[in-house]
Amino acid sequence: MREHRIAAIPGDGIGNEVLPEALRVLDRVGAAHGFRLAATVLPWSCERYLTDGAMMPADGLDRLREHDAVFLGAVGYPGVPDHVSLWGLLIPIRRAFGQYVNMRPIRLFDGITGPLRDATPRMVDMVVVRENNEGEYSEIGGRLYQGTPEEFAVQQSTFTRRGTERIMRFAFELAAERSGRVASATKSNGIIHTMPFWDEVFGEFAAAHPDLSTEQLHIDALAAGFVLNPARFDVIVASNLFGDILSDLGAAVAGSIGIAPSANLNPSGSHPSMFEPVHGSAPDIAGRGVANPIGQIWSGALMLRHLGHEAAAREVESAIETVLATTDARTPDLGGTASTTEMTDEIIRALPSA
Ligand code: NAD
Ligand code: IPM
Ligand code: MN
Repeated sequence: MREHRIAAIPGDGIGNEVLPEALRVLDRVGAAHGFRLAATVLPWSCERYLTDGAMMPADGLDRLREHDAVFLGAVGYPGVPDHVSLWGLLIPIRRAFGQYVNMRPIRLFDGITGPLRDATPRMVDMVVVRENNEGEYSEIGGRLYQGTPEEFAVQQSTFTRRGTERIMRFAFELAAERSGRVASATKSNGIIHTMPFWDEVFGEFAAAHPDLSTEQLHIDALAAGFVLNPARFDVIVASNLFGDILSDLGAAVAGSIGIAPSANLNPSGSHPSMFEPVHGSAPDIAGRGVANPIGQIWSGALMLRHLGHEAAAREVESAIETVLATTDARTPDLGGTASTTEMTDEIIRALPSA
């Protein structure tokens, strides 16, 4: 039986509730398809930081390197500053492993009433391709004169040609496989050095792909467009920060941020890729067993596809679709009363192998 070594990091808050449930789904589908996920559960978290002084052990990245993929819940919890927890675990993994693509699909499922009451699944089916290694998320900058009236903080964005070209390449290739449409999120009217450069590289790719339909929109107008006319969009390529914001907005348009998945990809395969829901640790609902597990389960499907199990991935995605379209099972974020476990049980029941 084929075996894949998975580093499973539940992390904080509802990560501990949704990740084990998703593993239950993946184990089931693996058994039916003749593969096994050998998960090493790593308790790297804010709790660990508070007892041991670090989010992960000093050799943490080396330990992850021995795995075929990383499956992550959510990182960050009140009690540890976010810049400490996130830059101590999530962001180093994305960077050390060259996971420069953060691919975040957004779909409206039949059976979910999003905020756009008349929208149909055909109208909301897009993918945010988020640059995941550079841009606005940088360590360059500093703070001076703290505690004085002259105090100030500076943070510099970095957009390299290599980093910008490789994310554009990924987005254009994905658009070619989908509807042939790619939109770029810019803000070159206000951000006058980095964004014009981003536009220039996008323009070069657009010129090289006359068969694809391309447009660039300012991020503010694009955000409005997500709500007013989501059907206009298919692949959206965005910088690190713009892609972060658009992916939560898109998830909300599709009904809940509890649904949305993400794949942090190193397309060269030289290091493990990482799969995690778009949402965070949700401290406001943590510990109650009511978190929506779909974002984590769908992220698991993206992981199976990445590991070469296309049929198994599709089965998981279809089970999610079937449950939403044909049953009333819904967690509270979708207006229902199901628990995390009940929702997962329904999805497992809808698998053909069940
Ligand atoms: P959040 O995504 O954790 O929560 C935002 C809102 O969405 C909350 O009301 C929450 O209850 C709800 N929500 C989120 N996931 C849900 C689910 N599966 N089911 C039902 N409802 C859900 O965002 P936040 O409050 O800004 O962040 C909380 C913590 O998580 C912070 O420390 C933040 O830095 C961290 N965070 C981590 C990640 C990650 O690990 N990738 C992502 C986002 C936020
Ligand atoms: C995400 C999160 C992270 C990000 C935070 C927690 C650093 O919001 O994965 O979307 O901005 O990348
Ligand atoms: Mn985010």
